[in-house]
Amino acid sequence: NKVTWSAEAAEIGSFSHFMEKEIFEQPVALENAMRGRFSADGSTAQFGGLNLTPIEVRQIDRFAFCGCGTAWHACLVAEHLIERFARVPVEVDYASEFRYRNSPLDGNTLFFVVSQSGETIDTLGALREAKRKGYKVLAINNTVGSSIAREADGGIYQHVGPEIGVASTKAFTSQLLIGAMFALYVARMRDMSFSDGVEYVKALKAAPDLVRKALEQAPRIKEIAKRYAQYADMLFLGRLSLFPIALEGALKLKEISYIHAEGYPAAEMKHGPIALISEKCPSVFFAPKSEIFNKIVSSIQEIKARNGKTIVITTEGCEFPPGVADDVIYIPDCHEAVLPIVATVPVQLLSYYIACERGCDVDKPRNLAKSVTVE
Ligand code: G6P
Repeated sequence: NKVTWSAEAAEIGSFSHFMEKEIFEQPVALENAMRGRFSADGSTAQFGGLNLTPIEVRQIDRFAFCGCGTAWHACLVAEHLIERFARVPVEVDYASEFRYRNSPLDGNTLFFVVSQSGETIDTLGALREAKRKGYKVLAINNTVGSSIAREADGGIYQHVGPEIGVASTKAFTSQLLIGAMFALYVARMRDMSFSDGVEYVKALKAAPDLVRKALEQAPRIKEIAKRYAQYADMLFLGRLSLFPIALEGALKLKEISYIHAEGYPAAEMKHGPIALISEKCPSVFFAPKSEIFNKIVSSIQEIKARNGKTIVITTEGCEFPPGVADDVIYIPDCHEAVLPIVATVPVQLLSYYIACERGCDVDKPRNLAKSVTVE
């Protein structure tokens, strides 16, 4: 009998695409990325491969992060969490810009590159430039033995297994998790108390189950996707740690469905993007429970006043005035360090189902490569 399936296709199981499989694999991927990485007292994170003593880490007074594409979004979330919890300044650069920008870094800066493949040429170029300037460079990377893993001074492997879909999913959420764990590690050396550390660790350990819960929304998101698949433009709006997730949502959608999409911090909308709003341009809003919930609701109302359709991703328990949200997607309420991970799930699913609805080649989108090894 002629074999009509490839080894790759066999691994896809009951899923239609690798991207779908990898989205649904995320709870397990997160468990793998966390395994063995909490201290025995349950109050902080620990990493085996930093090649820095805790005293050396304690002396660092600035972090610089670089990456490309989705990995760059993970850098932005790491910035938010490290500054918020560890109170250490963080700079984020596109790897392709950093390598030619000649930016000044001061003595106690620790450099991080983030790359799923470990082969992205611009990220490798940034690593080499930082090393040439005499900085220690650590890598957050999913591919053991990759060029970046070999050239970095140390780092943290993501341990999520191969990612086949060109659009990154489980690699991204595991980068978010590792960023959150690293923020905890540094925070516990500074101002975070034992009990706050314990609460943070518990929250991280709950992340896989919260992602499972978020995935239960898939059938509903598939229904919503059918109604939004034929638009030509879409906006993604979020604030604070969910601003990078708005960027990621827009990137996922444009990568696999070829719909033009832009991500913005929700309050920036009034400085330009609002000009695009009409019944022809829907918006996806992140509006979780937060101190600025009412501000986000007013931004949504601005869209509605201009006849824009709104899909609102919010946490359980939040309610909206009538007529504000055309479609609401609920995710479980969670700790701030975990929220970006859980909030990513609905925009991955939305992009995925919209792309399927449009008949796109989800796993191999046109013009894109899984790993970009040329400049
Ligand atoms: C390509 C891929 C993206 C990825 C980016 C960085 O553009 O299509 O999905 O985010 O490269 O890849 P890396 O392997 O460095 O994380």
